[in-house]
Amino acid sequence: MIKERILKALNDQINREFYASYLYLAMAAHFDLQSLDGFARWMFKQSEEEYGHAMRILNHVLERGGRVELQPIAAPPSEFGTPLDIFRQALEHEQRVTGYINDIYKMAVEEEDYATQSLMEWFVNEQVEEEDTVGRIVDRLELAGDNRAAILMLDAELGQRTEAE
Ligand code: FEO
Repeated sequence: MIKERILKALNDQINREFYASYLYLAMAAHFDLQSLDGFARWMFKQSEEEYGHAMRILNHVLERGGRVELQPIAAPPSEFGTPLDIFRQALEHEQRVTGYINDIYKMAVEEEDYATQSLMEWFVNEQVEEEDTVGRIVDRLELAGDNRAAILMLDAELGQRTEAE
């Protein structure tokens, strides 16, 4: 039986993952409007991946016999700045999520909830990967600066993303 405190934390995290999916969808739409098709594709895939994260937690709650309580998803911004601004925002977002994941992991340790610890271990590893991936894109956009050719090359490269992982 899943403890109330853990259940609440997991339901809150489901909401955050859906928000992340929404946020990246908004960023994808912005890039699409700018005809930066590669960045848009990358963000659409990222949005799908976040949906997958939400579902992973949701399925865990169901498998444990817990009640899923879906909450309203906040509206993400609809206007964004440069590609560098956007990927910096994405990185800050991932860093915040990492903090939440660590909090839930800590709570699962306190409550001796080994199943949730195992689930959160997957997310801890995932966050290392997410921060690394987005951080590298930020680095490369910083290097590109105002050089449009360099930005378009990165756009083409990110457009090759095929998987939502
Ligand atoms: Fe659900 Fe981007 O971590």
